[in-house]
Amino acid sequence: MEGSLVSDGQQNENQRLRDEIAALKKQLDQSQRMTALGELVSTTTHEFNNVLMTIINYAKMGMRHDDKQTRDKAFDKINNAGMRAAKITNAVLGMARNRSEHFELTDVGKLIDESMVLLEREMQKYRISVDIDIAQDIPEISAIGNQIQQVLMNLLINARQAMSEGGQLVIKLKKNLQNNTVDLSVRDYGPGISQEKLRKIFDPFYSTKAGPDETGKGGTGVGLSTCKNIIEAHGGKIRVESSLGKGTCFTLMFPMEKPKAAVQITRGIAGTVSQINATTGT
Ligand SMILES: Nc1ncnc2c1ncn2[C@@H]1O[C@H](COP(=O)(O)OP(=O)(O)OP(=O)(O)O)[C@@H](O)[C@H]1O
Ligand SMILES: [Mg+2]
Repeated sequence: MEGSLVSDGQQNENQRLRDEIAALKKQLDQSQRMTALGELVSTTTHEFNNVLMTIINYAKMGMRHDDKQTRDKAFDKINNAGMRAAKITNAVLGMARNRSEHFELTDVGKLIDESMVLLEREMQKYRISVDIDIAQDIPEISAIGNQIQQVLMNLLINARQAMSEGGQLVIKLKKNLQNNTVDLSVRDYGPGISQEKLRKIFDPFYSTKAGPDETGKGGTGVGLSTCKNIIEAHGGKIRVESSLGKGTCFTLMFPMEKPKAAVQITRGIAGTVSQINATTGT
């Protein structure tokens, strides 16, 4: 029948369009991944260079002065810078090890720590203090670790860019027993987002930024749309609350794995908090 032929044709066309949209989405995600990788290389190189400059300068100081006090101080600084360099390479290696495209049980707290190692100096440079609050009994979630780290880095960079005069950023990880989710939130005390703009922020290519800033980040408008795709592919949700003049909070909600004694891990908060105080308090 003619009617059913037309609708068959329409169905084919609809399917073709759906396939095309899926292919474009994949391309967009791929290009955001490449951008994130480029940003990571640039961030890490800067961080590493900074550590090397510290080592070289204190080595020179130790060579110029042979009194014990100056040399002890130089060795102490060189030792600390060396430890920091090891932390940076570990964070990068962590990402490299996580490169699998498969879902694995993932410690979100560790992803937070590794992201902060990479962004620590950038946050200091823009006078952003970072508070990290990780609850004690967070179970691992089923996730592609690198993708979650990419989402987290996008949110942290957006928050940093929103607070151009410096400010405070709060990262929280907790269990939400009501929804049976693990919730990761990133809160900033920047200018907030108007209701009208809130409706658009997850659209691909929506950006209010003039272009990349001096660190080469921001302005493409694909950050949040990629975050949303990644989180939805993880069966999770991304929520945003914002009020003008007060700030913005993005929350990622991941479905909690069924409790299995063998795979549950717990991690303490103390190490993380003192590490952040030590690194951002100066
Ligand atoms: N924490 C925030 N505070 C205020 N506005 C924000 C915040 N996060 C996002 N936005 C707004 O949402 C827009 C879209 O963010 P998104 O991360 O998708 O793109 P972008 O940061 O402009 O560019 P990029 O793709 O390079 O990240 C931003 O341009 C900004 O206007
Ligand atoms: Mg962004």
